[in-house]
Amino acid sequence: MACVGNARRFNQHGRASTQLARSTLSEPKGRVMLGERLPPARVSVLAAGARQQPRPWIQFDPEQIERSYNRSPFLVKHRLAERPQFMLPSLFALCRRMPTPAVKVRIGKIPGDADFDSSLHRYNHGLTLEDAVEHFEEREAYIVVYNPERDAEYRPVIEGLLGEIIVGIERLDPRPTWYSTYFFISARHAVTPYHMDREMNFLLQIRGHKTVRLWDPADATIMTQAQKDRLLSAEGEARPAYLPSFATKAKVFELEPGLGVHHPFIAPHLVTTGPELSISLAITFRTARSDVWADAHRFNHRMRRLGLHPRAVESNPAVDATKAACLRGLRGMRNAVRGGTEREGA
Ligand SMILES: [Fe+2]
Repeated sequence: MACVGNARRFNQHGRASTQLARSTLSEPKGRVMLGERLPPARVSVLAAGARQQPRPWIQFDPEQIERSYNRSPFLVKHRLAERPQFMLPSLFALCRRMPTPAVKVRIGKIPGDADFDSSLHRYNHGLTLEDAVEHFEEREAYIVVYNPERDAEYRPVIEGLLGEIIVGIERLDPRPTWYSTYFFISARHAVTPYHMDREMNFLLQIRGHKTVRLWDPADATIMTQAQKDRLLSAEGEARPAYLPSFATKAKVFELEPGLGVHHPFIAPHLVTTGPELSISLAITFRTARSDVWADAHRFNHRMRRLGLHPRAVESNPAVDATKAACLRGLRGMRNAVRGGTEREGA
């Protein structure tokens, strides 16, 4: 498999070792509307709820957050496996309750360098949800549940976890603006191919084993500035592709139940599961700061189309803020002229 390489592995103690190693998700083509915005009043309510939680479900190490949040991936511990909502029978019941477009199925074992955005369709292989649920292991199935927070039973559970994340990162990144969650349920040796999402993530392993390879989004040999500008600007177009030369540059995290890993903003990743059934939950989110970065990338993309060579995003916060303000001003003017609203990233 293309993703196997000689890379640095990290265990729950954060120590790296060199071993042969061997992968969240985003938006499918023909996509449903993903995620929801988080007005400040809602953020306050979620944070207050989390502060009243006597025994948090996710353990955040303040020093680790301070050192690594949105700079490099790191492990977190959690207790999600204790909750009945995260066990297979409840999740299969959820799959049957959710609207059809919100549950996607495919075979699990696919190439690590497959095109991410088309992978759910390309590798569906005629698998139906009912077939996947009834013969999960036999079909070697892979199920993604989009936005389980829209389910009445799951919403309070997931919002509780979101509140803990909000409190966990509030010193460094205090203004969450949007979130979206996903369950990944897979039989043995499933693969989520190399890709990068347009936000941050905490991927929490609930059952089985998952190997998560993450790449440094600041490494220009992995993604150039122009590629990142385009990623945030052209959501319908192909994301930057995997190259064999990336194999040795990944940080590799071995997740087992009770562990999760933070994905910094737009960090490329590739995920493989072990020889047993795997369940994980991805809580993806954006903040006022990452929204500035995203709009600064969109501004840069427009400058590049004019033949200019703009300064890299994240190299100067004041410049990023100015670019984002310009982009938002242009967007506002265009919306006013059109009498409508422009979708972010368009
Ligand atoms: Fe992802």
